[in-house]
Amino acid sequence: MKERIVSGMRPTGKLHLGHYLGVIQNWTELQHRYESFFFVADWHALTTKYDKTETLKEDVLDVVIDWLASGIDPEISTIYVQSLVPEIAELNVYLGMITPQNWVERDPCLKDMVKILRSKDSQDSQMSYGLLGYPVLMSADIMMMNATHVPVGIDQVAHIEITRDIARRFNHIYKTDFFNEPKPLLNHCSLICGLDGNKMGKSFQNDIKISDTDEVTAKKVMSAITDRSRMRKTDLGHPDQCEVAFKYWEIFGTHEQIETVKCECEKGERGCADCKRQLGAVINEKLHEIREKRRYYETNIDEVKDILNEGSKRASIEAQKTLEEVRQLVKMY
Ligand code: TRP
Ligand code: SF4
Repeated sequence: MKERIVSGMRPTGKLHLGHYLGVIQNWTELQHRYESFFFVADWHALTTKYDKTETLKEDVLDVVIDWLASGIDPEISTIYVQSLVPEIAELNVYLGMITPQNWVERDPCLKDMVKILRSKDSQDSQMSYGLLGYPVLMSADIMMMNATHVPVGIDQVAHIEITRDIARRFNHIYKTDFFNEPKPLLNHCSLICGLDGNKMGKSFQNDIKISDTDEVTAKKVMSAITDRSRMRKTDLGHPDQCEVAFKYWEIFGTHEQIETVKCECEKGERGCADCKRQLGAVINEKLHEIREKRRYYETNIDEVKDILNEGSKRASIEAQKTLEEVRQLVKMY
């Protein structure tokens, strides 16, 4: 039997290249090696944005369209929406009962989130019961499918640790070896920074979206930071100090292209504007197929909804198997 992975993403709306290179590309490879479950974590969105749900449905669809366009294959992987698998909420109850309060309170990601909340307007600065329970809900997501592995970024590893602790505690209390202690699968690809050199993020307005047009992409790339010491084309450049543009070349260019850019830049034979014009074209070429596919799904949104409904049904069936076992072990009526 193939080992199983579960991973989720919040419904943040249209995804950017940071998501694509850092997460989705990895999933598209993993789906061939593992039995794969990928879901949109819409309940998790409510932990902080319970009062901003106007665009939630749209955001869920946008995320999934980007997944499908990027090559997550619904024939191989199960793609679903968290809230369409309500079994997760029931497992969350059982897990919540056995999780010591201080396990969730010491979760470092949660502490960060609280800090961010506090820095925003005061009305939202209160931590809700749901937000406090977030690590348990995430454990329920993972244990629902009894995953063996969880592909996550380094920032989520602490959550997987809690999941392992909860799984071990459940097995100990109910004298079973039913639940796996899932291991994190870290993605070692190099992170892409934003156009301004900071972390790429939707809220920083420094991102390139999968769904951006070629024109918008080209324009955004022209705003990327370069070697700040360079004024003229003939100034000798330092690709290693070209904070964004050259880094993008290293991600998207061929070996040959990278060598050429480096050589010409160092000799003062390449202007930054030209360099970035070329770079924009290279990025657009790389994204061409994905964007075509994206347009297909955008205009065939019913197909996307079908995929989600089918996937959620399939996920529910797996979830029910787990719940049956859990209810028996806990000795529920
Ligand atoms: N917490 C993850 C994030 O914010 C999303 C997530 C929710 C998740 N449940 C999960 C990831 C289960 C992996 C497995 O990115
Ligand atoms: Fe960067 Fe290209 Fe300008 Fe060199 S020529 S500094 S690599 S943008």
